[in-house]
Amino acid sequence: MLLTLEGLDGSGKTSCVETLRETDLLGDATFTREPTTSWYGEAVRRSVADAEADPLAELFLYTADHAAHLARTVRPALDRGETVVSDRYSDSRYAYQGATLTNRFEDAVGFVQEIHRPWTRSPDVTIYLDIDPETGARRSGATNKFETATHLKQVQENYERLLAAEPDRFVRIDASRSIETVRADVLSTVEELV
Ligand code: TYD
Repeated sequence: MLLTLEGLDGSGKTSCVETLRETDLLGDATFTREPTTSWYGEAVRRSVADAEADPLAELFLYTADHAAHLARTVRPALDRGETVVSDRYSDSRYAYQGATLTNRFEDAVGFVQEIHRPWTRSPDVTIYLDIDPETGARRSGATNKFETATHLKQVQENYERLLAAEPDRFVRIDASRSIETVRADVLSTVEELV
């Protein structure tokens, strides 16, 4: 099973992944993330830190990181029969780069999905930590160019479109509540899954 966690910056994703790491519900699961910690992921982080980075070039950096992540980590672990839990995955590209590219393409989300479709591996289940853009921006401290409330609003709209298109894949969790409550919900969701 490939389980991914998605949400706006400040939604508490990383802390929920920690909760899953601490349980033994998932056996010897592989825990991973995008952007990755490889040099591809480093290239992505350089781009994120650059306010002048070209959004289309940035899309391809993130996408290259995803390709390497699939080849080196995700597919081998799935082939070994392990569960894979990824803190962000392809939906982050559809939602975030769909937002940065909104002025460049008539349907930016669709364009980014099309680039992935022939070769990516879709998640089996995606936990979406639902938070409003203002809270997300406040909690994340708006430390990078993606974390402003205006940008996050567009990202949120894109996520909503993804949830509407594949309601069976997504589990929505209200992440505006206390982190303990959110973590408990994530745990019981995974308990039901396994
Ligand atoms: P994040 O998981 O928040 O990393 P960190 O722990 O370093 O804060 O991801 C970094 C930023 O990159 C975040 O603002 C979301 C953005 N992002 C994209 O724009 N596209 C993507 O495909 C991914 C994976 C992340």
